[in-house]
Amino acid sequence: MTEIDRIRTDIAHNARVWNYWLGGKDNYQIDRQVGDQVTGLFPSIRQVARADRAFLGRAVTYLAAEAGVRQFLDIGTGLPTVDNTHEVAQRIAPESRIVYVDNDPIVLTHARALLTSAPEGRTAYIDADAHRPDDILRSVEPTLDLSQPVAVIMLGILNFILDTDKATAIVRRIMDVIPPGSHLAVTHPTLELGGEGNAEAMAFWNENATPPITARSRAEFAGFLDGLDLLDPGIVSCSRWRAEGDPEPEVAQFGAVARKP
Ligand SMILES: C[S@@+](CC[C@H](N)C(=O)[O-])C[C@H]1O[C@@H](n2cnc3c(N)ncnc32)[C@H](O)[C@@H]1O
Repeated sequence: MTEIDRIRTDIAHNARVWNYWLGGKDNYQIDRQVGDQVTGLFPSIRQVARADRAFLGRAVTYLAAEAGVRQFLDIGTGLPTVDNTHEVAQRIAPESRIVYVDNDPIVLTHARALLTSAPEGRTAYIDADAHRPDDILRSVEPTLDLSQPVAVIMLGILNFILDTDKATAIVRRIMDVIPPGSHLAVTHPTLELGGEGNAEAMAFWNENATPPITARSRAEFAGFLDGLDLLDPGIVSCSRWRAEGDPEPEVAQFGAVARKP
C-alpha cells in the first residue's frame, strides 16, 4: 500500500487539522469540519497551535545559536509550514542535520518539501510510530551521529501516547541513548493554564477523529523531564517560553527545554 492509499479522507486526521488551524491548505473538508467543531468547544485552539509553532522557532534558535547543537530529531513533525526545524536551525548553522519522524501518510507525501536542506547539512524523513522508539533510533543513522549531542524535539506528540508511563518510558529510552549535552524540547496540551474547555473538545475529538489524544497535568509533564536539567524559565505556557516583548497570553500548552547533564 502506498502512502496515498493510506490517506483516509473520511475521518479527520491530526496532522491535517493542525495544518488547518495554522492556516495551511493541506487538509480536507472533514478536517475543516471537525477542526471548526473543536474550535467551537475550545476557542483558543488556534492560538495554541500558533504559540506551539512560535515556541519551536525560539527553542530551535536557542539550541542552534546558544547551545551549539547541530543535530535535531523532530518526532511528530506535522505537515511542513513556515519555519520548519531545518529552516530555523540551518539559518543559524547550515551544517545542521535534521531527521523528521511522523506516521501520518499525508506528512510522508510532503516529505520532499521537508527534505530540502542547505547543501552543507542534511535532512531526512522517517515514517515511524513514536510508540516504537527503538525503530526510530535504528533509522536515524547515518543522518545523525548518536555519539554526538542531539536535540530531540517532541512538540504536540506525547499527547498521542495515551498511557503516561509509556510516554515517559519513550522519552527516557531516547534520552538514555544520546550523550550528555543533548537536549529535549517538549510541548503538551493541558487542562491547566486556562485549558478546562479542552476536556470537552478532546472528548469530541476522540469520538470523531484520529489519533486519540490526552491532556496532562504539570506534574505529569514534569515527569518527562526527570533526570534532565530544566532550562530557564522552566515549565511554562509555551507562548511564554523566552518570548520577547510584552508578555504573551498564556495558552493551555506546556512548553519546556531541558539538557541532559
Ligand atoms: C499536533 S501535530 C504537531 C506538529 C508539530 N510538531 C508542531 O508542533 O507543530 C502532531 C503530529 O504528530 C504526529 N503523530 C501523532 N501520533 C504519532 C505517532 N504515534 N507516531 C508518529 N507521529 C505521530 C501527527 O501525525 C502530527 O503530524
